[in-house]
Amino acid sequence: MTTTFLSTELCAPRWSLGERYSYTLDSDEPAIRLLRHYAAATGLAFVCLDAASGTVLAKTDPDLVEILPSLVVSQLTYVTEPRVWELASGLVFYAVPLHDMDDLQTVGCGYVLNHRGRISEELQRLADELHWPPHHLSDWCTQQKCCSPELLERLLCNVYEADQRESKLRGESGELSARVERVQSQMRFVDGLASGLVLSKNPTELARSCVESLQQQVGAEACVLAVNDWHGQWQEYSFGRLPFGTKKFELLLDYFEGTTAFDSIIRNHVAGGLISDEFPELRNFLLHPITDGNRHIGWVFLGNLPDGREFGTGEARMTSTVAALLATHYCNRQLYEEQEEFVLQFVGSLVSTLDAKDRYTRGHSERVAAIARELGEELQLSAQDIKDIHTAGLLHDIGKIGINDAILQKPSALDPAEFDEVKQHPLIGYRILRGLKLFHKLLPGVRNHHEEYSGNGYPDRLRGRDIPLLARILAVADAYDAMRSDRPYRKGMPLAKVENIFREGAGTQWDPDVIAAYFAARDRIAQVGSKSAWSS
Ligand SMILES: [Fe+2]
Repeated sequence: MTTTFLSTELCAPRWSLGERYSYTLDSDEPAIRLLRHYAAATGLAFVCLDAASGTVLAKTDPDLVEILPSLVVSQLTYVTEPRVWELASGLVFYAVPLHDMDDLQTVGCGYVLNHRGRISEELQRLADELHWPPHHLSDWCTQQKCCSPELLERLLCNVYEADQRESKLRGESGELSARVERVQSQMRFVDGLASGLVLSKNPTELARSCVESLQQQVGAEACVLAVNDWHGQWQEYSFGRLPFGTKKFELLLDYFEGTTAFDSIIRNHVAGGLISDEFPELRNFLLHPITDGNRHIGWVFLGNLPDGREFGTGEARMTSTVAALLATHYCNRQLYEEQEEFVLQFVGSLVSTLDAKDRYTRGHSERVAAIARELGEELQLSAQDIKDIHTAGLLHDIGKIGINDAILQKPSALDPAEFDEVKQHPLIGYRILRGLKLFHKLLPGVRNHHEEYSGNGYPDRLRGRDIPLLARILAVADAYDAMRSDRPYRKGMPLAKVENIFREGAGTQWDPDVIAAYFAARDRIAQVGSKSAWSS
């Protein structure tokens, strides 16, 4: 803050050069907002000037007489903090720095009287130059604000410093908000990614969504996920604009394959480096290994950040989080697949046991499972539900393991007592499987596949939609295969006859929706066992 005493005097109005008042006072320009702020905080009048030319851009008091000594104008470009100039004429000029507008440096200026009393010769000369009538000058002097340079200096400095403090705080708070927003955005990203890591989800679909999300989150032009999956197959998924052919990616990995580091590899200036000849379009990249703690499973690659940005700790941290999530998911997925394989083998051995015991219905379980799968697909059930329906189809008659061999293998029709014993198989199957948590979802299919829609089935005499959907689907699949297959004491029925029975039984014996699904999928279902088991 400087107060300058200028001995040179006012010569004429000097601040009306070029276009005037290009900004209205209610403009949202930062410089004009600051001008309003100074006027309100000090009670003084201000004009906004282009510091280089002295051009008036706006003013807070329309009646303010525009006077400014040329010597003050010549110093406006040096105004980086409040300045005060005391003149021998009795006027005190002040200037404060404002914000730049486009490429213009702007200042806020004004003047007050130093003290009331005698009208100086310089002011009288000014009045003459402005052609003011007699007495107008003394009226004008009476209307002017009166303030000493020292007080004016203190007043302007207080406002300036308070404003500087507030700007700094605003800047810090803005920076903090931006940081919080960045962290929140990363958390949302990781959260979204983690919730998408569903074990049963198709691994290719999952990898693609990870690659796409990471590429968009980091803003890189390309992202590649390369993993050695649990079947030992090398898989690559890319998204965005790759700066090299897909085959070249493996060449890039070769450069770093020997590294034992578990950290990100960052190269922000590829040009002129070791690999620039092989990868002329690659400007910068980040490569992060995917490991399960001991084993190297694959890599996450991000390439070419736009707008001169460089990869840094933020991008490395995010990529490392994604790599860790993927590694955990891949390990879990491997366990899940191993468990599924075990279940399938276990189910397979149970079905083989049943087939060995009941040779007349050999292959029945597989066909029921396949038909039930077609029905599930026609009913647009989820992939997991369809998988469960298939397994339930394989196991639906497993309770027959507990039925007397002589009855199961009887070459003629069963008498009522024998039939009553066979009717126990849904409950026996239920008891066999209920102790195994893995099969809990399948239990309704095993227990209730002989219920009838009208409520006349067994063992629970459930009716309509009270019968679990799994059981309603299996009931149709089971009946279809049973009617179509040959038995020692009868031939399998022709398709037309079976379909007539379905039409008549829809809504009484079977769920009409499942029967409708059968007719929609009849051609596919006809393929299931036509060559081996069913009559044409
Ligand atoms: Fe059955």
